[in-house]
Amino acid sequence: MESSVIQVPEAYVKILQESQLLGFEQSCDRKTGFLLKGLAASKPGGSFLELGTGTGASAAWIIDGMDEFSTLTTVDIDSRVQSIARRHLGNDRRVSFCCEDGAAFIQKLSERFDFIFADTWPGKFELLDKTLDHLNVGGFYVIHNVFPQSKLPEKYRIKATKLLKTLQDRPDLDITELDWSTGLILAVKTGVNL
Ligand SMILES: C[S@@+](CC[C@H](N)C(=O)[O-])C[C@H]1O[C@@H](n2cnc3c(N)ncnc32)[C@H](O)[C@@H]1O
Repeated sequence: MESSVIQVPEAYVKILQESQLLGFEQSCDRKTGFLLKGLAASKPGGSFLELGTGTGASAAWIIDGMDEFSTLTTVDIDSRVQSIARRHLGNDRRVSFCCEDGAAFIQKLSERFDFIFADTWPGKFELLDKTLDHLNVGGFYVIHNVFPQSKLPEKYRIKATKLLKTLQDRPDLDITELDWSTGLILAVKTGVNL
C-alpha cells in the first residue's frame, strides 16, 4: 500500500516555527490537527469555538477543514501568543479572535456552537456545564492531552482523569476515547435532557 501524503496547512508550519522562537511548546501535533480538520469538515456552515488559541496551530487545522460558510471564534488570555495566530490567520474573514479570560468569555456566551475545542482551563476544568450548554445537539466537544503523559504536570493529569469521568457520567453526551496522539476525547451532544 502506498503511504499517504500528509497535507499540512501552510500556516501551521509557519506558526510552529514562530512558536519555537517564542518558546511556546503547547501547540497541537499533526495527528490532533488532522482529526480537528476532519471533524471541522463534517460540519458545513458550522459555528466553531476554540478555547485556548495559543499561537494558532490548532486553529490553522480547524480552518483548513471548514467550508466557506463556517465561522471560528478563538479565545486566549495571552495577547503575545495570540498575536502569532492573528498574523497568520487574521486575514481569513471566517475567523474572529477574542483576547480575554476564557471564563469571562463563557459567562457572557449567548449563542450555541456545533464544535468546541476546549484547550485551556475554562471550558474544560472550569465552567464545563455552562460550556456544554452552548453546544448544539449533534455538536462535537473535543479535548486532547487526556492520556497520562510525564511531560504534563501531576495536577493536570489528576484533573484530566476526573474530567473524563464527569463527561462519561453525563447522559447527554456520547463519549469516544481516542487512542490517538496525546489521547483525545470526542464527545457528541445527544438530545437527552440532563
Ligand atoms: C494548550 S494552549 C492552546 C494551544 C492551541 N490550542 C494549539 O493547539 O495550538 C493553552 C492556551 O490557553 C491560554 N490560557 C490560559 N489560561 C487561560 C484563560 N483563563 N483564558 C483563556 N486562555 C487561557 C494560554 O495562554 C495558552 O495559549
